[in-house]
Amino acid sequence: MSQLVIHITGARPNFPKAAPVIEALRERQGIRQLLVHTGQHYDDKMSDIFFRQLGIPKPDINLGVGSGSHGRQTAAVMFALEELFEDLGPALVVVYGDVNSTVAAALVASKMGIRIAHVEAGLRSFDMTMPEEINRLITDRLSDLLLTTSVDAVAHLGHEGIAPDKIHFVGNPMIDTLLKHRSSFDGEEVRADLALEGDYIVATLHRPGNVDDPVDAAELVRAMHAVADQAQVVIPLHPRGRARLEAAGFLDHPQMRVIAPLGYLEFMGLVSGARAVVTDSGGVQEETTVLGVPCLTLRPNTERPVTITHGTNRLVSRSDLAGQVRAVLSAGPLETWPVPPLWDGEAAERIAAVIAGYLVIHTGLGKPHSAASPVEQ
Ligand code: UD1
Ligand code: UDP
Repeated sequence: MSQLVIHITGARPNFPKAAPVIEALRERQGIRQLLVHTGQHYDDKMSDIFFRQLGIPKPDINLGVGSGSHGRQTAAVMFALEELFEDLGPALVVVYGDVNSTVAAALVASKMGIRIAHVEAGLRSFDMTMPEEINRLITDRLSDLLLTTSVDAVAHLGHEGIAPDKIHFVGNPMIDTLLKHRSSFDGEEVRADLALEGDYIVATLHRPGNVDDPVDAAELVRAMHAVADQAQVVIPLHPRGRARLEAAGFLDHPQMRVIAPLGYLEFMGLVSGARAVVTDSGGVQEETTVLGVPCLTLRPNTERPVTITHGTNRLVSRSDLAGQVRAVLSAGPLETWPVPPLWDGEAAERIAAVIAGYLVIHTGLGKPHSAASPVEQ
């Protein structure tokens, strides 16, 4: 009997992580897949464009939960998933990263006795003011398979008392996506539209700690204007902070180019040609590490320290940012740089092998399922 695996995706960072895993599992016999989109992100450029560009099958089900407070959004995902899991009886639910959709799915599945695989387990910022840190801790505690991208993540899970046989160091599926699509990266059109010539810096900013509070937003605008004094800055701006940053005068600098979020191929093309990146994104810290683009992370901490020890990343404060940008610009482009272990384009194959092996051992332990429409094969 084939086993039903349900993938839960919902927000922009989930899509490049899930894409190669779905593809790798398609090759495995005895597994049927179903793809759920919770609808946490819904703008074309925050969601659908990733499915088109990365060849992800159209979601079988979109829960359409949309935006809301943490409680409302998480509860809406839980409410819808409970009914879905009850109907379909999956053998395994695969969750990705650290967004609200991730923890919501883990909570529902665990209470229904459904096994959970967490892709990108074990990352820790040790900063409980970040909603993602809460989501990571809970999801990991509830998961049966903890699939990690780095050795530090393995160590964190060990310290938290997670049984070693649940933890699998598999590498980084987001980097599988980067390496697979690298030859299609295309920043030309964006550069032409913006008449960008010479050195430029790309910035992405969306963390609540940077953009939610008007005082933080005003300080961030001052820091970014000091960057724009030195080079052109292109900011594909996440919808979260747009209104507040604009109100704080973000656009009032001739070298600041604030644009809508970009598709994956355009964004990665733009980043590939940048002299530096300023960001508070998790994924962008990883991508710049592999691309060898200097990354200045505007945060007091990172759950991805491997991007500092084995990559191009550096943590900076708003007050230090302009000086750090000056240092990067005067240092010139990097010629060589290390890449973290197992960020080699094969992570999804390793994840598929772990999941397939796990399901063989646990065959029959998942609830029997009814005929669900599988993702397009
Ligand atoms: C979420 C994740 C964060 C991740 C980020 C990636 C949580 C708690 N946070 O943050 O970890 O780094 O996604 O992008 O899950 N909005 C739109 N269009 C959309 C989606 C959102 O306009 O398609 C706006 C809405 O005003 C919404 C706001 O962005 O209220 C925030 O969206 P939400 O999904 O709640 O959190 P993010 O800040 O996107
Ligand atoms: N990204 C994109 N277009 C953009 C900004 C980001 O395609 O305009 C991609 C990029 O690959 C990044 C991923 O979206 O790694 C997730 O980014 P985000 O910063 O939203 O989430 P985080 O990784 O911080 O959770």
